[in-house]
Amino acid sequence: MLDANRDDFLLGIVGAGLMGRGIAQVAALGGVRVLLFDSRAEAAAEARDELGRTLSMLAQKGKITEAAAGAALARIGAAAGLDGLAGCHVVVEAIVESLEAKRELFRQLEAVVADDCLLATNTSSLSVTAIAAACRAPQRVAGFHFFSPVPLMKVVEVVDGALTALAAGDALTALARRMGHAPVRAQDTPGFIVNHAGRGYLTEALRVLGEGIADHARIDRILRGAAGFRLGPFELLDLTGLDVSCPVMETIYHQYYEEPRYRPSPLLRQRLAAGLLGRKSGRGFYAYADGRAQFPAVPPVPPASMLPLWVGTPGCGAREGLLRRLEAGGARLDRGTRPAPESVCIVLPVGRDASTAALDEGLDPARTVAVDPLFLDLYATLMGTPLTTASARDAVWAALAGGGTEVTVIRDSAGFVAQRVVAMIVNIGCDIAQQRIATPQDIDRAVTLGLGYPLGPLAMGDALGGATVLAILDALHGFYRDPRYRPSPWLTRRARLGVSLLTPEP
Ligand SMILES: NC(=O)c1ccc[n+]([C@@H]2O[C@H](COP(=O)([O-])OP(=O)(O)OC[C@H]3O[C@@H](n4cnc5c(N)ncnc54)[C@H](O)[C@@H]3O)[C@@H](O)[C@H]2O)c1
Repeated sequence: MLDANRDDFLLGIVGAGLMGRGIAQVAALGGVRVLLFDSRAEAAAEARDELGRTLSMLAQKGKITEAAAGAALARIGAAAGLDGLAGCHVVVEAIVESLEAKRELFRQLEAVVADDCLLATNTSSLSVTAIAAACRAPQRVAGFHFFSPVPLMKVVEVVDGALTALAAGDALTALARRMGHAPVRAQDTPGFIVNHAGRGYLTEALRVLGEGIADHARIDRILRGAAGFRLGPFELLDLTGLDVSCPVMETIYHQYYEEPRYRPSPLLRQRLAAGLLGRKSGRGFYAYADGRAQFPAVPPVPPASMLPLWVGTPGCGAREGLLRRLEAGGARLDRGTRPAPESVCIVLPVGRDASTAALDEGLDPARTVAVDPLFLDLYATLMGTPLTTASARDAVWAALAGGGTEVTVIRDSAGFVAQRVVAMIVNIGCDIAQQRIATPQDIDRAVTLGLGYPLGPLAMGDALGGATVLAILDALHGFYRDPRYRPSPWLTRRARLGVSLLTPEP
């Protein structure tokens, strides 16, 4: 097998654009000699000059030593023609994202490089298998998918096509480690791991918005504040730009033959047509002034109410904590076994909406207010039934806010916002494991490093409890009768057995 740690290892990089330069930088810093080639005559030399400036800047900032910067630059060369890559052990392409261009490039490279040279593609959206199929020796072709900016995004997906030799992926895995990156191994499938696992967060948030449950700013606040995501889904869409994210969502949905779990929202095409791309166009879901998002004002907390509060849903783990918190916030509690006629009835549903919870517990829907019991910390999400009075809702809002909890009010929703979005992420992560696209550990590593989620999807499911995630999905599935919410067999089995979602199968 090719030894990625040999001293004379030579990496060819075709395409000296954003990605090619980033790959060159991390390879050279990892001690790998690099040859850059680009079809635009001056591009490779320009890339080398720019890498020289970048490396000096890193040395000035004290991130690397002057000696390391000099040695890394000395390892980077430019090839005048494709035949200059003849001595490479691996050639990775980062050219234009076109199947035909990549197939043609690999055909030409096969005529130049040695028989044991590996050919790697940095494609994000094309099939590695389809690129390899154009080659005389498709077993030497694999995906080597880096994320932008390469020096900061420390994960790389090593993608095995249908015809890729195991040893080819093994060698790229070792090369990635030498470059200081964390390799994860994926079968060639649409979106590989990261772009596949990322479907849940955005499509479910868009669905909540499209259903009129909450506006984009509230959804972002809940997912940041209550569920711990670094960026809300609409901040993320604005950052990426709808011109980029909308086609990715549509492509993955169609590549999976209209799998409802990945269904994009009709809101996207309409916003794209309106030019509401995001940060880059000055307006997306948020308006931007001087590059900064203009967040709408948070509604003021209503005045404290004298209405007594009664908490239902016996058996819910969050019930006692909520009672203590309401008491600390100065609320008048109704501790009766059933609510007094004037009491506001608080329910704590999992996967159900407030209306269903009120009916299930035999409560007056006009006095029922639901609080999300799973994401109840310094943050609370509240919703009423369509009949809940403003005074009942405001009484719970004021009592929670009085105890120092930040409150966001939404309209009635099966699974609030965080429950359903997190359940979708977990379910899709489980199905990636079920399809054997990657190991459970690699799925979680790819998602934490590639998407910056607080936990990988499987660990996220374990944190809530597999049985709880299954209950949320079953309730959503029953409510909407939409196969989008059908639980993955991976989740169902592990939840029933009561074991971690990271449990592999021999
Ligand atoms: N930009 C990203 O965030 C990102 C992330 C992951 C993967 N990718 C993938 O990496 C690849 C490159 O993306 P980029 O953002 O660096 O693009 P880029 O436009 O910055 O660079 C592409 C470079 O390839 C050169 N090129 C085009 N066709 C060529 C050919 N046939 N032979 C030699 N050179 C050729 C161009 O002159 C250009 O310098 C694409 O396949 C893309 O899907 C991009």
